[in-house]
Amino acid sequence: MRLKGGHEEINYDATKAFFNNRAGKYNEANPYAVTMYQDNNPELVKQRNAKEMEKLLPLLKLDKNSRVLDIACGIGRWSDAITTEIDKYCGIDFCEEFILKARELNKEKNNRFFFTGKSNEITVSLLNNEWEDKFNRILLIGALVYLNDEDLENTFKQISEVITDSAIVVIREPIGIDERLTLKQHFSEELEDNYNAIYRTRDEIVASMEKTLFVNGFKINDEAFLFDKALNNRKETAQYYFVLER
Ligand SMILES: C[S@@+](CC[C@H](N)C(=O)[O-])C[C@H]1O[C@@H](n2cnc3c(N)ncnc32)[C@H](O)[C@@H]1O
Repeated sequence: MRLKGGHEEINYDATKAFFNNRAGKYNEANPYAVTMYQDNNPELVKQRNAKEMEKLLPLLKLDKNSRVLDIACGIGRWSDAITTEIDKYCGIDFCEEFILKARELNKEKNNRFFFTGKSNEITVSLLNNEWEDKFNRILLIGALVYLNDEDLENTFKQISEVITDSAIVVIREPIGIDERLTLKQHFSEELEDNYNAIYRTRDEIVASMEKTLFVNGFKINDEAFLFDKALNNRKETAQYYFVLER
């Protein structure tokens, strides 16, 4: 199903099965395609990854005291990109295969931690792993499209519970340019699988932030489309980012 405008919930078991299948397609020569797709266009994956890091990494203002929580971290693409000295990085993802791969890829770094868990149950995952530190940097990269509205709000609410008073949140999401678009068990030729995702409009995401993050002292410091036309190959959706600070 491909629904424009209306509201329809997606099923997380289907999303989990999709990502388990993606994990099986991991390819050392083009590692980030597992979570960035474009399987047949490794050059585009490389260029998008480079552009994203060039634009967004400086906005995180990392320093040696930074404690980064990467929600829905995949195989730790952002952990790879963080090469400056930080205090700690913790990635959480519900796909166990991705977490195992991320641990393997980061085994030489002693300040990188990867846990299995759901985006909307961050506090539970941290508790289960006896994590006590509060974070001052949050990453939500390509994570919100896989959540229903209620869980999007829960995820935003939980951020406030796991951070210090002063913090930066960087969100990068594909959004519906003119209207909300829901794909539910939609067969994608490109991905050779059924796909489930909710592309919200920019305003829908901000409305959710108002109820959860703004009331907890956050404000948007920066927002824009991430890629220019050359790197965007979709008509209805495009990658967008927000930087929130308090
Ligand atoms: C598009 S990938 C992005 C991965 C990573 N943030 C990156 O930028 O490379 C989406 C990730 O979200 C994870 N994911 C989807 N739904 C989730 C959920 N409900 N809880 C936790 N992780 C989820 C998937 O397993 C996948 O790793």
